[in-house]
Amino acid sequence: MRFLFTDHDFPDADLERALCREAGMELEIAQCRTEDEVIAAAAGCQGLLTQYAPINRKVFAARPEVRIVSRMGAGFDTVDTDDARAFGVWVANSPDYGLGEVASHALGMALALVRHLPWYDRDVRAGRWHYTSAGTLRRPRGLALGILGLGRIGKRMAEVSRPVFGRIVACDPYIPDSGFPSYVERVDRERLLRESDVLSLHVPLTEETRGLVDAAALATMKPGSWLVNTARGAVVVLDHLLAALDAGRLDGAALDVLPHEPPEAGHGILRHPRVMLSPHAAFYSREGEMELRTKAARNLIDWARNGRPNYVVVEGSR
Ligand code: NAI
Repeated sequence: MRFLFTDHDFPDADLERALCREAGMELEIAQCRTEDEVIAAAAGCQGLLTQYAPINRKVFAARPEVRIVSRMGAGFDTVDTDDARAFGVWVANSPDYGLGEVASHALGMALALVRHLPWYDRDVRAGRWHYTSAGTLRRPRGLALGILGLGRIGKRMAEVSRPVFGRIVACDPYIPDSGFPSYVERVDRERLLRESDVLSLHVPLTEETRGLVDAAALATMKPGSWLVNTARGAVVVLDHLLAALDAGRLDGAALDVLPHEPPEAGHGILRHPRVMLSPHAAFYSREGEMELRTKAARNLIDWARNGRPNYVVVEGSR
């Protein structure tokens, strides 16, 4: 059995290679950016381990020997699941390796914004030393945290934020009332936008969520509120966000994810003084990375041995 690691940004792929070798399987390593590069590299491979390479109909049609795709991560928007279903290809992911990391990162960003830490840091380095240099601060206990998408990470975000904020509200039309912890108020999207002081995004990227935080949504948000995005960059329309920040509608934004990663040099988002950025790192800890890589590779090994991966996104038919 032969697999292809289509692309990765780890220092090496020794862990994945060793896991496959121990299981009696071979792992080819590539750094594909396009479908054509995946097609060229995947000759004779039954499974793909992928990080950011696009996987869709074009790949499945050209490489019918590929029967499973395991995405290195929780999100799987880089794999077209409709196309996989149409071709009977299994899709797997690794959804639970970094819940604590992402939630801590989102809370860290929320607190940094609420406490104006990036602006204080800038001021002190520029020679301004005064507790009011970064404007007026408000007591976190008097603020409402809003969560869009109360799934695995959204729920953990609610849990870790509970001691900090006075109120937690969340919108998730796809889970029952029983999925809401007692301390989280269920609201619709309109109320979430109107009532959140900090809005933290935890939805997957879908046709419905793409561009969901646009000019209209930003205009509905509380004046002086903050936006945190550790979900997927394309959920937020960046130009609209920059305009809302320039207009003083929002006080600040913290983004771990961007529509294009990395952003083009000179992009306005890199220069805006009310924006805090991290490089799609919310998942990261040494321990989390090992767990992620192990679980993603094991999906392929489990499928080869037992006919199904551990974390199923799409049931394959082959
Ligand atoms: P999940 O699937 O457990 O939860 C997502 C929740 O969003 C579900 O409960 C779903 O019902 C809800 N949802 C879907 N559409 C919605 C809508 N239109 N409005 C409101 N709620 C909606 O996903 P998980 O694992 O919690 O991941 C959340 C996000 O975090 C994903 O976008 C994922 O790609 C991203 N992520 C980012 C990482 C990073 O390093 N920055 C690492 C891991 C995940």
